[in-house]
Amino acid sequence: MTATETISWTPEKIRELVRPNILTLKPYSSARSEFKGVAEVLLDANESPFDNGVNRYPDPLATAVRQAIGGLRNVDPERIMLGNGSDELVDYVTRIFCHPGRDAVLALPPTFGMYKVAAGINDVEFRAVNLLPDFTIPVDQLKGAFDDKTRILWLCSPNNPSGNAMDPAVMEDLIRTFPGIVVLDEAYIDFTPEASFLPRLDEFPNLIITQTMSKGWGMAGARVGMAFASEFIITMMKAIKPPYNVNVISQERALAALQRPEVMQAKVNTLIGERKRLARELDSLACVEYIFPSVTNFLLVRFQDSAAVYQFLLDRGIVVRNQSYQPNAENCLRITAGLPEENDRLLAALREFDAQ
Ligand SMILES: Cc1ncc(COP(=O)(O)O)c(C=O)c1O
Repeated sequence: MTATETISWTPEKIRELVRPNILTLKPYSSARSEFKGVAEVLLDANESPFDNGVNRYPDPLATAVRQAIGGLRNVDPERIMLGNGSDELVDYVTRIFCHPGRDAVLALPPTFGMYKVAAGINDVEFRAVNLLPDFTIPVDQLKGAFDDKTRILWLCSPNNPSGNAMDPAVMEDLIRTFPGIVVLDEAYIDFTPEASFLPRLDEFPNLIITQTMSKGWGMAGARVGMAFASEFIITMMKAIKPPYNVNVISQERALAALQRPEVMQAKVNTLIGERKRLARELDSLACVEYIFPSVTNFLLVRFQDSAAVYQFLLDRGIVVRNQSYQPNAENCLRITAGLPEENDRLLAALREFDAQ
């Protein structure tokens, strides 16, 4: 098999990718998932009966939230898994498909750091093929790293920290030729004009798509991440998840937000406008060398001296993220679009830096 060949996945071949101990695992059975019928008196879970809004355990599968997401995204709720942030789902995928001490995952730095952390936690080799200097995918080099140990390929589009979306034709080719599970992390999809791969999920049995309520939906503190995949892969996630991984308050807040997508969209539009304004205004500053094109709520900016700018901003109470240690991101800082007045403050500080 070469990486130019399209792999034809059968349910059996996908099953073979799963660690055998997980395939046969008997999941924890929580009190709330054991009965069928109408609950009037709940004496099954050793909870407190005094109602304070959180005295009961949450729905283990967050059914109402999954139904709301399914309705919005036009996906069967049985193909959706929620996590305590998508961070948790990164760990689930690593655990389900990688044998500790034997297998490897592939990722394209500079990218989101949790893919590497999850590999490290699970004693799985992290194989890095760096993105090119313009942050596009070096397809041939990446395919050269495919082998029988590489169980997961992490794609992140739009990518953090570079801010660009990957070419959909390239991603499609990688999904079709990678001999394992491809995870496409769409955490920033709500900010981008690029189409999500979600409507095409059926075409790719080895694809998992993750999204989150932390970015566009503005709910990072509630920790609600989502994975979309085949029912079989979702069943494997259900088998390994902690029983109550998304808490009552987060489920309630997520449901309320999902019922008003227009509120989210208005805020996303504001942030896209602010990102564009920041890019325009940063472009006129002497300390700025290059602003990478972005379809997210942040900008990766190359400065002449990123360390000096970082400290100057910090001294004025403004915190941005240093990315200069990442491949192809020398002298780069990642700047999130904030409220208009916060962005004004950032720009004023950078003008002051230039005037020194
Ligand atoms: C690409 C990407 N994926 C996932 C996450 C984490 O999302 P969550 O808050 O849902 O864990 C982030 C957060 O910065 C991210 O940049």
